[in-house]
Amino acid sequence: MKYLFANWKMYLGVKESVALAKTIVAMTRKIQKNNLRLALFPTSLAFTDVVSVCKGSRVAVGGQNCAWTPAGAYTGAVSAQMFRDAGAAYMIVGHSERRHIFGERDSDVRKKIDACLSAGIIPIICIGETREERENGKRQYRLKKQLMSACQGLDVKDNEIIIAYEPVWAIGTGDACAPADTDDVHGWIAHELRSYTSAQVPILYGGSVDAENVHNYLALGTVHGLLVGTASTKKESLAAIFRAARV
Ligand code: PGA
Repeated sequence: MKYLFANWKMYLGVKESVALAKTIVAMTRKIQKNNLRLALFPTSLAFTDVVSVCKGSRVAVGGQNCAWTPAGAYTGAVSAQMFRDAGAAYMIVGHSERRHIFGERDSDVRKKIDACLSAGIIPIICIGETREERENGKRQYRLKKQLMSACQGLDVKDNEIIIAYEPVWAIGTGDACAPADTDDVHGWIAHELRSYTSAQVPILYGGSVDAENVHNYLALGTVHGLLVGTASTKKESLAAIFRAARV
């Protein structure tokens, strides 16, 4: 069983999100083999519509970002609890775009993880180093820090949290992390996680995954699934990834 998660970021509006969700649900209905766990992450505006489309199918829906308090005076924010009530199974937390564009700190990410767990949502905790950190030999340092802040003292059961290794330099650049390198990093992350929990924690890879390279990653035992951005926002490429991932 592997995870295949589609992060639509701010690419698709309501109409496009609903249309693409319908296509995916129709594709999954034709498939007998059940070796993929699928989820779509639409814009918040399309969230409830996409949930309606996916109802009764094998496709789950998740949020791209949430606030850490359940309710209150937080203009513009949507809480994990509200997402849960609207049908969210998963939440992307600490995506590099949130960290680097919107200035989220490790401590903010941790609060969101706690909020998701209290609301009964599985957080997908994104970690990753910048190109500069990688080139200066600081990759493990950065990942260690992010993991420690995210996981220290967490009391979770199997599959209640997911880690997504998404090197910042690989996101949306076409410069995907080489499978052998990904395998090494994922092995190291799995080892690091043992200091925080004995629960099973799936580790996904994300960063320039497309229909051509998807199989290289899914073939790795250390990669439990993929978080796909750009290539998941178009019907043709998402369908191609989906077909490649099922083989
Ligand atoms: P990408 O994005 O597939 O466009 O590189 C991945 C992500 O941001 O989750």
